[in-house]
Amino acid sequence: MSPFGDRTHMTRRTALAVLTSAGLALAAEHAFPMSAGQPGQDALLKLLPKFTEKSRAMLRRLLDDPKYGGQISAADAAALAKLENTSVDQLMVNLLPLAQSYSHAPISNFFVGAVARGASGSLYTGANIEIPGQCLGFSVHAEQAALSNAYMHAEPSVPALAIGGAPCGHCRQFIDEMSPDGEILIVTPSKPPMKLSSILPSAFGPAALGMTHGALPVQETKLALFHDSSDPVATAALDAASHSYAPYSKSPAGVAVRSSRGRIYRGSYIESVAFNPSLSPLQVALAALIAAGETYSAISAVTLVEAQDAKISQKAVTGTVLRAIAPEVQLVVLAART
Ligand code: THU
Ligand code: ZN
Repeated sequence: MSPFGDRTHMTRRTALAVLTSAGLALAAEHAFPMSAGQPGQDALLKLLPKFTEKSRAMLRRLLDDPKYGGQISAADAAALAKLENTSVDQLMVNLLPLAQSYSHAPISNFFVGAVARGASGSLYTGANIEIPGQCLGFSVHAEQAALSNAYMHAEPSVPALAIGGAPCGHCRQFIDEMSPDGEILIVTPSKPPMKLSSILPSAFGPAALGMTHGALPVQETKLALFHDSSDPVATAALDAASHSYAPYSKSPAGVAVRSSRGRIYRGSYIESVAFNPSLSPLQVALAALIAAGETYSAISAVTLVEAQDAKISQKAVTGTVLRAIAPEVQLVVLAART
């Protein structure tokens, strides 16, 4: 079986029934995605059978926090590692089945999870996202989701990333944008941790297009809306755009997605020097929404803020993806000036 999971087609309901005792070599979609938002008690037991009862109870509390967004604080990660009598890096590997359970992969049925560790010591989960009926290029890889989650939490750098197996070429390229020095440690269940530089030699890094640094730490671009707004979704989208990383197109953009629970998920545009692995602001916001255990049906409003007269626009791609996942939601596009 592939280290990422089983390719067998399955529904969400049957997914948990086929979890293997191997723990990592499993395939599962989010167990109870409809109303509960997070995997329930039984699901957590099936996903993390080797965890102690105390650790699962602690995770339960974290996941049940209405503000949970796929982030486990440094203190909680250290406490969990202690309860599990293991290192934080091994804990990250052990948490992969939980991260994987959030996967939305209706095209491949190939469910992938990843866990990033930020410089603050916080952990960030991510899962792959495929947009039903749409271009494969709209997919977000689990590694990208976990890293974008760390980015949106303003991590100054990401020293480690846990994955079920070695990352694909597209991800190696994207990871390089977060760690252009190649120092980030890739931690997998079956091999000693490896530096990115060892699996991406001769990297085409940000320096190729004249950059002296990568996406982290996040930098702020001063942006203002042409027409002031007190709408919290517009304000959040403006904030996301102000923190986007668009050094190649010089076209800052950000999205905010409001869910029916009233939560607002921000997504900053994150570019890659190789262009194609770039994440659109909606992709980043969706990774945040999914990491929080919410689903597309909960999306109630979406606003895109982008710089007026920029070289490129996220409007078309944002509208296309939004129509595929929440057709009743009208995209609001607001122009900003630098
Ligand atoms: N995938 C990842 O999430 N990470 C990888 O490194 C390998 C591939 C996802 C992308 C797509 O949703 C599915 O797995 C099949 O490629
Ligand atoms: Zn990948």
